Amino acid sequence: MNALRYSNISVILHWLVAIMLVFAMVMGTTSLVNIPNDDPEKINALKGHMIFGFLITTFMIVRLIAKMKSINPPPMVTDNALRDKIGASVHSALYILVILMGLSGLGIALLAGVPDVILGVEGASLPETFNELLPRLAHGVVAKLIMATVVLHVVAALYHQLILKDNIITRMALGKRFKD
Ligand code: HEM
Repeated sequence: MNALRYSNISVILHWLVAIMLVFAMVMGTTSLVNIPNDDPEKINALKGHMIFGFLITTFMIVRLIAKMKSINPPPMVTDNALRDKIGASVHSALYILVILMGLSGLGIALLAGVPDVILGVEGASLPETFNELLPRLAHGVVAKLIMATVVLHVVAALYHQLILKDNIITRMALGKRFKD
């Protein structure tokens, strides 16, 4: 059996993650990285970023599980099999990249001793910069890959909606899921 739309939980988490991801990307690249680690404001910015990052990663994992356990709409087919394959790969890439973003963020925080600084452990302080840490390099590279993948994803959705006019957007909207 196929559904007309994704499950309510998948739809809600899709839009929630989309908004939160854009916000985390913009704040991460324009604000967080520009605050020096010896600025007292840095730890507050990190706290906010880490909580937000954990939520995004958790929502993405919950969404993946919900999708695996639900009855979903059939894969979109166009007249171009290669394009359809790329579309499916972009979706898988988004799950993998967002989860990698969360894991690399956690890696930076643990290697740099951020939890001790947040908890106020005596003598704990942030390193001069996070740039020497391998997970920091990964976090920066994965951020760029996510941006590129999200652009591809949005362009593909607009192509379906505006050029192919197959009303793809209804699959990711709340409403009746099955034909009577
Ligand atoms: C999906 C979730 C996340 C997104 C979208 C995200 C986004 C970003 C972005 C865009 C940057 C700037 C990268 C650059 O321009 O090179 C950044 C930096 C950073 N993020 Fe995340 N992040 C996420 C999760 C996390 C988590 C869970 C943690 C920690 C537990 C974390 C800790 C950090 C740290 C420590 C930096 C470096 C700040 C600096 O260099 O001063 N991130 N993040």
